[in-house]
Amino acid sequence: MASIDSMNALLVDELRDIYDAEKRLTKAIPKLAKKATNDELRSALEEHLDETEQQVQRLEQAFEHLGESAKAKPCAGMRGIIEEGEEHVGEDYDDDDLRDAVIIGSAQRVEHYEIAAYGTAIAHARLLEHDEVVGLLEESLEEEKNADKKLTEIAESVVNLEAANEDEEQSGSRRRFSASSGRSTAQSQGRRRSNSRR
Ligand SMILES: [Fe+2]
Repeated sequence: MASIDSMNALLVDELRDIYDAEKRLTKAIPKLAKKATNDELRSALEEHLDETEQQVQRLEQAFEHLGESAKAKPCAGMRGIIEEGEEHVGEDYDDDDLRDAVIIGSAQRVEHYEIAAYGTAIAHARLLEHDEVVGLLEESLEEEKNADKKLTEIAESVVNLEAANEDEEQSGSRRRFSASSGRSTAQSQGRRRSNSRR
């Protein structure tokens, strides 16, 4: 492979890394969504899958602007984050809420990595005055930030609170938990997928 001998070559290299990361995510996000129990979490992940597919296309447009082929360069960082996430999510949890909390953590690691990668690439594209590329990357960066924010909201408002309550429940306050969440024990054990929990 040719050496990276200019800022332009560096930018192309960065975009190839992000391109690989996004393509990996189009396969990894559906797996996370499938394991999610909370409706809000699942739809946030599905929505971000659609965005990720558009981000892949934006990167292809960016390569086109730069007169470069859209080639992916294996992104070891994202591969590791995805592997670790799958490992954690696949562990045994006494309660679905606990797994949802882990899914959020994994997804947020992904988002933060991407936010960093896009931020650097945008700075370099700006230095090189590739305005169209800056615009495309900024659009994707905005989506990553919003996805991260949404996950934080879900973690704070729904999932982690319920996971914490499950602990409480185990220490003897089952009735209070069931009443406050508006859900029966049968629901909490078996029909979570159809429960919107708002
Ligand atoms: Fe992304």
